[in-house]
Amino acid sequence: MKHVAVLMGGLSAEREISLVSGRACAAALEEAGYRVSRVDVGRDVDVVLRRLAPDVAFNALHGRLGEDGRIQGLLDLLRIPYTHSGVRASAIAMHKPTARLLFAAAGLPVAEGRTCSVEEMTRTRPLEPPVVVKPVDEGSSVGVTLLESWDALDPQTWPEGRELLVERFVPGHELTCAVLGDEPLAVTEIVPASGGLYDWRAKYEPGGSRHLLPAPLPKRIYERVLEISLAAHRVLGCRGVSRADLRWDPSRGEEGLVLLEVNTQPGMTPTSLLPEQAAFRGISFRDLVVRLVEMARCDP
Ligand SMILES: Nc1ncnc2c1ncn2[C@@H]1O[C@H](COP(=O)(O)OP(=O)(O)O)[C@@H](O)[C@H]1O
Ligand SMILES: [Mg+2]
Repeated sequence: MKHVAVLMGGLSAEREISLVSGRACAAALEEAGYRVSRVDVGRDVDVVLRRLAPDVAFNALHGRLGEDGRIQGLLDLLRIPYTHSGVRASAIAMHKPTARLLFAAAGLPVAEGRTCSVEEMTRTRPLEPPVVVKPVDEGSSVGVTLLESWDALDPQTWPEGRELLVERFVPGHELTCAVLGDEPLAVTEIVPASGGLYDWRAKYEPGGSRHLLPAPLPKRIYERVLEISLAAHRVLGCRGVSRADLRWDPSRGEEGLVLLEVNTQPGMTPTSLLPEQAAFRGISFRDLVVRLVEMARCDP
């Protein structure tokens, strides 16, 4: 049976969630009969991987170093096939302004936006509020801020010189769609449990959100989300699995759909969005991780 090293933890802000993802994946792979080594990824990961010499690396990392192409480059170098996307797709997806350029060039809908530093933003006040300001390369809504007016801008929120993305706020529904292999799985709508504003803070508070699966959308909107998510996966050259985040403003019909980003390392805790969509399509958590292992490869 294959020896799988499950890479988890790591050095990013999303370390804790990755440990939960990694433990769940490792347990499922053991149940499926694989020989499993759990690797809490540190700066010595190259030495650890050379010593373990696994047949496959299961990448359960999130955020910097694990999701941005760097660990993928190391695995290519070591010739260890790995799950999820390769160097290029990972690096591009992680840098939102670059991903937006490719999406737009492929005719996919993105929110109106500008890239700038905190200082430029304070000086030029790009776009009419409400706007969303976010770091170009963080995940899990880290540093994402809604500004109802430019007077509400607190430059202290972000470090000086930090590259930021300012986007027009898209009101309405929060949607997400995973693509497994070459197939979009389903569309989930994420709604705050409190029945309050459709804002992203509620999304990550414990018990703060409900998942509606399948999302209760008009058929043509649902279908269009599947299409956009698959196209985005392909434009970036993603592998194995990805998950697209979108917003939909129903007052604008099909025109109201906006692609926010593609996640190349979607959450893999048993209650995460991707495992939930897989289950909805009849794919158990164990089958999902096994499929990912069987799709593992590295670039020559
Ligand atoms: N232009 C936007 N309009 C409305 N909400 C947004 C916009 N950009 C981001 N958000 C909210 O912030 C959340 C996080 O933004 P996203 O671009 O997905 O980055 P990440 O998940 O990597 O932090 C989204 O899920 C959404 O709720
Ligand atoms: Mg997101």
